[in-house]
Amino acid sequence: MNAGNEQSVRIVEVGARDGLQNEELTLPPSIRVQLLEKLASAGLRTIEAGAFVSPRWVPQMAGSDEVFKALPAHSDVTWTALVPNVQGLEAALATGCREVAVFAAASEAFSQKNINCSIAESLLRFQQVMVRARDAGVRVRGYVSCVMGCPFTGHVKPEAVAAVSASLYGMGCYEISLGDTIGTGTPAATKALIEACSKVIPVSAMAGHFHDTYGMAIANIYAALETGVRVFDSSVAGLGGCPYSPGATGNVATEDVLYLLDGLALNHGVDLEALIDTGEFINAQLGRETASRVARALLAKRRRKS
Ligand code: HMG
Ligand code: MG
Repeated sequence: MNAGNEQSVRIVEVGARDGLQNEELTLPPSIRVQLLEKLASAGLRTIEAGAFVSPRWVPQMAGSDEVFKALPAHSDVTWTALVPNVQGLEAALATGCREVAVFAAASEAFSQKNINCSIAESLLRFQQVMVRARDAGVRVRGYVSCVMGCPFTGHVKPEAVAAVSASLYGMGCYEISLGDTIGTGTPAATKALIEACSKVIPVSAMAGHFHDTYGMAIANIYAALETGVRVFDSSVAGLGGCPYSPGATGNVATEDVLYLLDGLALNHGVDLEALIDTGEFINAQLGRETASRVARALLAKRRRKS
C-alpha cells in the first residue's frame, strides 16, 4: 500500500438494503432480520438494515420498520437506514434507528429517476433531514450515486461528484460514500475521482461503494486503498444492484473484499467462513447462486474435503 498508514478497514455491509432492494423476490421482514443477525454474528459492525423510502418505488424495502423494531441491540453494531426525506427520517426514528443515510446523485437524470427531484432540490431536502437528525442525536452518512458514470447520460465528471460531496459533507454528513452505481469505473478513474474529491473533503471521510457490473470492483477498491480510503461498502454474496440503474449488477461481494484485505494484511474483523454461510442462507431464500468468486471457490473446496 502506498498511502494511508491505517492498517484496518471498516466494511459497511449493504446487502440487506442495496442488495435485497434489487432482487426480484421480496423477502418478508422475518427473513431479513435473520440475515441481519447472521451478518452481525459474522463480525460486521456497520450494517445497513433497510430503507424508509416509498414502497411504491422500492417494494422490496417495505416493512423496514418491522425489521428495525425486531433487531437486537448490540452495543457494538450500528444498524443504519436509507432515508430520502424527513418523512423517511421520522419513520426511522420511530423504530429507534440511530444512524441514517441520505442519498444524492452526481447526475441530474439519475436524481430524477431515483428520487423524483433535481440534485439541488435533493440537497434542500437533506438539509431538512440534517436539522431533524441533529435534534434527535442521529448520525447521517451521505451517498453520492453515479460517481463514475450514469445509466442515462454516460460520463460523469469527477468535479460534479466533488461538488455534491462537498455539499453533503458541509451540511454535516460524517462520511461520504462514493457510489459507482453502474460499475463502469476503472482503477485510473477511481484515483482521479478520489483526487478531485480530496480537494473538498478529507480522504478519511470517504468510503468506496463499488458495483461489480464490469468486474472492476476489487481493482477499484485496491486503487482506492492506495489513495488512503479505508471504508468500503459491500454486499454479502454480491446481492443486488439498483432498481433505478438498468443493467447494474450487485455490489462487490463482501467475501471478495475480505479476501483482498487478508492478502494485504489489513484488519477487518469479519469471519470469512461465517460470512460464506450467511451468503448461502440468503441465496437459498432467494433461489440464487452466490456472485462471490471467493465464496464459490471456498465452497467448492469444502465440498472436495467432505
Ligand atoms: P415522490 O412520489 O416524488 O414523493 O417520491 P412525494 O413527496 O410526492 O409523495 C408521494 C407519496 O410518497 C406520498 O404518499 C408520500 O406519503 C409518500 P401518498 O400520499 O401518495 O400515499 N412518501 C413516502 N413514503 C414512504 N417513505 C418515504 C416517503 N416520502 C414520501 N420516505 C421519494 C419521492 C423520494 C419518496 C421516492 O422517489 C422514493 O422513495 N425513492 C427511493 C428510491 C430508492 O430507494 N432507490 C434506491 C436507493 S439509491 C441506491 O441504491 C444508490 C446507492 O446504493 C449508492 C449507489 O450505488 O450509487 C445508495
Ligand atoms: Mg449501490
